Amino acid sequence: MRFDIITIFPSLFTPFLKESLIKRALEDGRITVNIHDLRKWTTDPHKTVDDKPFGGGSGMVMKAEPIYKAVTDIRKYSEGKGVKIILFTPRGKKFNQKKAADFAEYRQVIMICGRYEGVDERVAQYIADEKISIGNYVLMGGELPAMIVLETVSRLVPGVVGKKEFLEERKKEEGFVEYPQYTKPESVTIDGVKRRVPKILLSGNHEKIKKWKDKKGKTIK
Ligand code: ADE
Repeated sequence: MRFDIITIFPSLFTPFLKESLIKRALEDGRITVNIHDLRKWTTDPHKTVDDKPFGGGSGMVMKAEPIYKAVTDIRKYSEGKGVKIILFTPRGKKFNQKKAADFAEYRQVIMICGRYEGVDERVAQYIADEKISIGNYVLMGGELPAMIVLETVSRLVPGVVGKKEFLEERKKEEGFVEYPQYTKPESVTIDGVKRRVPKILLSGNHEKIKKWKDKKGKTIK
């Protein structure tokens, strides 16, 4: 699966791609990630990517043309087939596990990271297939959302994380259950009090353990 990220801060992604399972997925060729500097698609000497808003108002707005040119070039890799173009904006649809499973079905996902006060609305209307928000708060740009979507979708690419059997579980649409987890040692002293692992988990009784996990599990939707 191929990810293309359009940003004016490409170096923000460098450390993120150099660690952990994402690094391995890249090395194994299970995913490819291309970070594109939007300024490459500007034509003026100052490499301008933003301008003042029509009708007045504070802040700057990202121009539609460089983004359009970038997307047009980048989508060529997939010959227009199986491509999803995402624009990050706090006004978009909420990202969740179901959306991640949907995106994981595409061959190429192109993500546009907005910055400044906003992006010319024509990008949302005529260029992006989908507008995505990662939550009800306003960030300074779409770079962190892009990392979140990249990581969540990559987990659903076969071979990137864990065993195949659990992949379907991760993709489940109707939410999934997460239960409390413990590891060694059995007793940890915190503020002078010994905090122990729930006895049932040490019992070896698989039926009872399963019941406990079901009871304590929290469904995340
Ligand atoms: N850009 C700024 N805030 C955002 C958010 N919450 N989700 C997606 N993109 C954003």
